[in-house]
Amino acid sequence: MYYNWEELEEAIKGCNKCKLCNGRKNIVFGTGNKEADLMLIGEGPGADEDIQGIPFVGKAGQLMNKAFIGLGIKREEVYIANIVKCRPPNNRDPEKEEAMMCINYLRNQVMLVKPKVIVLLGRIALTNILGEEYKITASRGKIIEKKGITYIPTWHPAALLRDETKKIDFWNDLKLAINILNN
Ligand code: URA
Repeated sequence: MYYNWEELEEAIKGCNKCKLCNGRKNIVFGTGNKEADLMLIGEGPGADEDIQGIPFVGKAGQLMNKAFIGLGIKREEVYIANIVKCRPPNNRDPEKEEAMMCINYLRNQVMLVKPKVIVLLGRIALTNILGEEYKITASRGKIIEKKGITYIPTWHPAALLRDETKKIDFWNDLKLAINILNN
């Protein structure tokens, strides 16, 4: 574990624990308020994120930003990170082994941020954080308490691009997260 952000980021920049390091342009560390009450966890960088080194800057991220604006969430007030820090080729799902190699970096980020609520964006985030037994369809919108953190699984924003009907769920799930924090 690293107890300061600089050391953690340096470690990730030099990471070659899995094959994803071979294709990366940039690591995508995480962004936002390092003392946020609300954290959102995605899957892994896509092409735009790989180029910019910032999570959720592509189409899915822009859609998420719109939901943030609608709900009065400032992107810079929350913390956003991913299960894997390097782009999987052709945007495939990260493999189990890749996620396993990377997950301690994310655990370290959670330890440093100390969020009260974590929104898990999609199946990959859900199963890698809470366990393979969780299914996104059954879990989304539910409040799951573990070790002093409240988890709310929801659809990955990319799923909203494919199926517009999921937008309302996504909106409601983010609203639930905000309501928990405001109570
Ligand atoms: N999808 C993710 O899961 N994370 C990103 O950073 C971008 C797209």
